[in-house]
Amino acid sequence: MLKLILLSTALFFSAFAQDNPCPTTQWKYDETSNSCFLPSKHHSTFTDATTYCSGFNSTLVVIHSQQIETAVNTIVYYEDSRSVWWIGLQRSSPQGSFTWVDGTPLNYTDWQSGQPSNTLGANCVGVFLKSGLTGGWQNVPCVQQQPFICFIPNAVTLPTSNPKLCPPGTYQGPSGSIQSPNYPANYPNNADCYYLITVAAGYKVSITIVSFRTEYCCDWAYIHDGNAESSPYLASLRGVVPAGTSYKSTGQFMLVHFTSDESTNDTGFNMTYTAVAN
Ligand SMILES: *[C@@H]1O[C@H](CO)[C@@H](O)[C@H](O)[C@H]1NC(C)=O
Ligand SMILES: *[C@@H]1O[C@H](CO)[C@@H](O)[C@H](O)[C@H]1NC(C)=O
Ligand SMILES: *[C@@H]1O[C@H](CO)[C@@H](O)[C@H](O)[C@H]1NC(C)=O
Ligand SMILES: *[C@@H]1O[C@H](CO)[C@@H](O)[C@H](O)[C@H]1NC(C)=O
Repeated sequence: MLKLILLSTALFFSAFAQDNPCPTTQWKYDETSNSCFLPSKHHSTFTDATTYCSGFNSTLVVIHSQQIETAVNTIVYYEDSRSVWWIGLQRSSPQGSFTWVDGTPLNYTDWQSGQPSNTLGANCVGVFLKSGLTGGWQNVPCVQQQPFICFIPNAVTLPTSNPKLCPPGTYQGPSGSIQSPNYPANYPNNADCYYLITVAAGYKVSITIVSFRTEYCCDWAYIHDGNAESSPYLASLRGVVPAGTSYKSTGQFMLVHFTSDESTNDTGFNMTYTAVAN
């Protein structure tokens, strides 16, 4: 598990260091897509790979977004970048349309040029990297033996939104602090709060934990390097984080997103921020 963290410069697997909500430590957790991935280098036919994944109540990986595609490509890159890796996409005949093994719609594709091909029997799909993390999909005969990736989406149950409970959402100026709702008393269940910190153009946001205590399994503070949830993660925090831990943005914005689930709470957090020149 750790090999990938250490090698990956991408932020996608940065949550590993804290915890892994996946079935076993062989699985990789990607917080961006909140999904678990199990790479298997055991070369198998498409059918055998499907059976193997179902043993974990999982399926071959289903790709509905660029985030999942990037996680898949990152795994392939570090595990075995010279093989085609099965994903959970197949068709019943060369005339049929491709469908995901979990029955969800095909609403994202990344075919390599010239693909899918009409080669007889080429009814199953794999990812093949062309250079670095860039690759794409190609269809090959299902009886070929290839490595594969099992997949569990929505690994951690995320809470429903309840913005009424939250402190103010915007913070501007050279310094300040943000707290979880009710701090230092316990935060409520089902909180879903955003804190957008903006400092002057040309400066960066440096944020420091004064106090951080949340329910370890389920109450998270995500720190984004930018002003949107789609901005890269600087950290995903839960449980106890030591005072003095700090994070710095690369630009003038930092977005903190706090969520708690429907039960169990704690005192939450107080963090201070300042604008820094570099
Ligand atoms: C798969 O799900 C079933 C039913 O929820 C459960 O009984 C079984 O333990 C699960 N198997 C694994 C390997 O998680
Ligand atoms: C594609 O469909 C899946 C499953 O229904 C959904 O979760 C996902 O958000 C959809 N993606 C896009 C880009 O519409
Ligand atoms: C904290 O959780 C307990 C148990 O779920 C709940 O009874 C209590 O109301 C929660 N505290 C707050 C401040 O919502
Ligand atoms: C948060 O921490 C700062 C720095 O220690 C402190 O000045 C501030 O009073 C704290 N805020 C709350 C609400 O406790």
